[in-house]
Amino acid sequence: MAMRRATVLALGACLCACSSAGPIGPAIPSGVPAPIDATWSDPAEYRIDRATEKEGEAIFERTGIGDPYRTGLPYPIFLALLEMHPELLGATPQALADRFGFTSRRAAPESADRDEREGLPLGLHLTDDPNTRVPFLVHNCALCHSEVVRWPGGEKLVVGLGNRRIRVHAFEDALAKIAVAPDFDKEAVASVAARLAQDRGIRWPSEYRGTIVSQTIRGVKERYASRAGLLERVRDGLPGRVATIESFAVALGQLLHRDVETSPTIGWARIPDTIGYAQKRTLSWDGGSEGPSDALVVDADIAAGARVEWLYKHPLQGASLSTFLRHVPRDLRFPGAIDTGLAARGKPIFERACAKCHGTYEDDGRAKSYVEKIVPLDYVDTDPARALAVTDSFVAAANDPKLVVGGMRLVTTRRTMGYVPPVLTNIWARAPYGHAGQWPSLAVLATKPSQRPSRFVIRGEAPLDLERVGVVTADPGTPLGPGDYVQDGNVDGFRVSGHPFIADLGNDSKAVVEYLKAL
Ligand code: HEC
Ligand code: HEC
Repeated sequence: MAMRRATVLALGACLCACSSAGPIGPAIPSGVPAPIDATWSDPAEYRIDRATEKEGEAIFERTGIGDPYRTGLPYPIFLALLEMHPELLGATPQALADRFGFTSRRAAPESADRDEREGLPLGLHLTDDPNTRVPFLVHNCALCHSEVVRWPGGEKLVVGLGNRRIRVHAFEDALAKIAVAPDFDKEAVASVAARLAQDRGIRWPSEYRGTIVSQTIRGVKERYASRAGLLERVRDGLPGRVATIESFAVALGQLLHRDVETSPTIGWARIPDTIGYAQKRTLSWDGGSEGPSDALVVDADIAAGARVEWLYKHPLQGASLSTFLRHVPRDLRFPGAIDTGLAARGKPIFERACAKCHGTYEDDGRAKSYVEKIVPLDYVDTDPARALAVTDSFVAAANDPKLVVGGMRLVTTRRTMGYVPPVLTNIWARAPYGHAGQWPSLAVLATKPSQRPSRFVIRGEAPLDLERVGVVTADPGTPLGPGDYVQDGNVDGFRVSGHPFIADLGNDSKAVVEYLKAL
């Protein structure tokens, strides 16, 4: 089954929401009745016979890609860590969600869905290990790619939209701190996990727990030791942004047993909306990885810890995901007032000035014609850090033949020195804008680059500003409330420069922005 290779691709990666619990085993105590494969856990829910939208939806919103021994954490251990380290993680799943910007869900004891009964945030899922029957906590795509859009007077959960609050690297950093805490040892973790499993009726078979606890501790320590250098650089990253290339570089380095050099400036990537997927051939802001979309859409999980072998053994996951992503149902019309006369005047101006890069759109906002291209940095003139994050060393590692399993190479990576113009469907709901979220609103993007404010406070919890079409900002120096953060465009990676195209329209820019609201 010569399919997808382990290359990269720059999805979010890095996540490893739940860190990796290296393989369980091989030290399964002798005398155990049922011998198990101590390195491989393949829950039935990851087996797909036929690639369908429904299977893709389940992966995206519920099960994720899988490989629980590598990407997951045994649930009793996860609960033990919440209890032992509330100062790092929060004491409950809800507190954890608030702290790291996951979309929280209230525990729904009557729900048929165990994840909801447990009150896990959207994006986290329990899958049963068929070897030990222990539930493992894994993550799915919706952890990063779903957002509750709020506006004055309403809100809506939208699957696919980039989560603008999530702090993936801060979460990893908390786990890294636990990994070196003195109480992260077998006795302490085992006794709390056993008590919690007992109290809450979670399967935690006595014949396996000792092994599971020690293997998990070892796996977590190894994972975070290898990521210490990365975390040093990214732990204070802004919400909704991921150091995708840098995270991938660490994963590649481990697979290849060599250092992969990264650029001196982090190439922060805002989590994008997946709505443009159907129109595109690449997945990243810089268009740096090419290949069949079925392969691109799963490859990033390598950086989250999934094994190449896992992807090969589950060949229909990518096909299912891409079928689903091509047809994501979406009903997300601009909730404010639109001056329809002005928007109608904006449409032909858009088609003249913008469509050559961003394509044209139906009246309901769906893309009509869009041809993906890469706009060179010296033309678009936006912050170069994300494009430059793809170093020669990274390109060589990502394309290394040693990563090919099964002999065929489907994804290739290159340094493009440019950015792909995003598909603009539902653009009103997607602030902050640009590959790094460098522009808080369409009003700012429509301002001449030299006159854009560059340092401001983002009101992370405030409903969207429908006037300026974007996130709410305040002057730098304003006291920070919960979810607020300072964004400094004088720092490399977040420069607000470039893309003068809307401002260049002068008086016509208002009509174009009015038209954008309708997409
Ligand atoms: C850790 C958060 C995270 C997770 C989890 C995640 N992504 Fe992403 N995704 C990102 C980021 C960040 C990017 C932008 C990458 C870049 O350009 O550097 C991205 C890009 C994408 C894109 C491209 C969108 C576009 O048109 O520009 C698609 C499609 C996508 N991800 C699908 C998925 C799927 C499918 C999964 C689950 C298997 C997933 N993602 C899991 C963060 C994440
Ligand atoms: C030469 C090609 C080009 C033209 C012309 C162009 N854009 Fe863009 N646009 C881009 C690129 C490339 C980006 C991504 C830049 C980045 O993230 O650094 C972008 C980003 C954007 C974004 C932010 C998208 C997001 O998902 O955050 C909006 C909105 C936008 N453009 C609107 C327009 C409008 C309106 C026009 C016409 C007045 C226009 N653009 C003209 C290339 C172009």
